[in-house]
Amino acid sequence: MTLHAPRFDVPFYQPAGDECALFEAAHINGLPLLLKGPTGCGKTRFVEHMAARIGRPLYTVACHDDLSASDLIGRYLLRGGQTEWADGPLTRAVREGAICYLDEVVEARRDVTVVLHPLTDDRRTLMLDRTGEEIKAPPGFMLIASYNPGYQNVLKRLKPSTRQRFLSISFDFPAPAVEITVVARESGLDAARVKPLVRLAGHIRALTGMDLEEGVSTRLLVYAATLIAGGMGVDRALQAAVIEPLTDEPDVQVALRDLITAVYG
Ligand SMILES: Nc1ncnc2c1ncn2[C@@H]1O[C@H](COP(=O)(O)OP(=O)(O)OP(=O)(O)O)[C@@H](O)[C@H]1O
Ligand SMILES: [Mg+2]
Repeated sequence: MTLHAPRFDVPFYQPAGDECALFEAAHINGLPLLLKGPTGCGKTRFVEHMAARIGRPLYTVACHDDLSASDLIGRYLLRGGQTEWADGPLTRAVREGAICYLDEVVEARRDVTVVLHPLTDDRRTLMLDRTGEEIKAPPGFMLIASYNPGYQNVLKRLKPSTRQRFLSISFDFPAPAVEITVVARESGLDAARVKPLVRLAGHIRALTGMDLEEGVSTRLLVYAATLIAGGMGVDRALQAAVIEPLTDEPDVQVALRDLITAVYG
């Protein structure tokens, strides 16, 4: 019999569906994975949880509009009068058979796709054009990318040739019962007091598109619940953790306050 030590180091993640099985299938088969979904809905937590569960190191890169291929693969640096090659996070992840997570990948510069394409099809090869090295990714290596379709900018859409190299999972805010579990567990507030927060979130999310760019995230609900669990009054907590982060518009703030009154009375 094999005894497995309990793994206390795996970050808590409450699944919404079969995403954990899909991740494992992607990893076993060496397929890259694309996570789509709004801000604060659990994408990063899911990746951290799965990386710990399968026991692979995780390299996370927050992509931005200046991020170039060299930032990912590496560059020559001048050290003591000598030029020396320094691996970037993607190269390190490939060499170690680790997981590389490119957060908000659509933000990255175009030249990044040139690097990703041979790595995300059946070649699974990273080409270091500067050194001429070609690294075949070992079985443990996995590439994960995420983006928020809500902020899609026509100029920054992923090309079909890139999208069609990834398995994809759509994330959304969890169903109420799941979200109550998540918020209670993350904040320490008891489930009975989390329930109205999640009900409020449902009402606010119904406004999305009309007055709000994006609905209230699970992350903000965790913030609000954390303040309330620490003894802050519900009104003050919701002002700081929900109303102000969601909008600067006075009319929309009034509409949100009305929703709070409707839920809390
Ligand atoms: N299913 C879940 N299980 C556990 N915690 C969750 C879950 N969903 C959301 N959370 C909580 O919400 C917080 C925000 O989630 P996370 O950072 O994963 O969002 P994200 O989708 O990566 O957002 P962004 O696109 O802004 O990076 C987490 O720190 C965690 O407290
Ligand atoms: Mg994230």
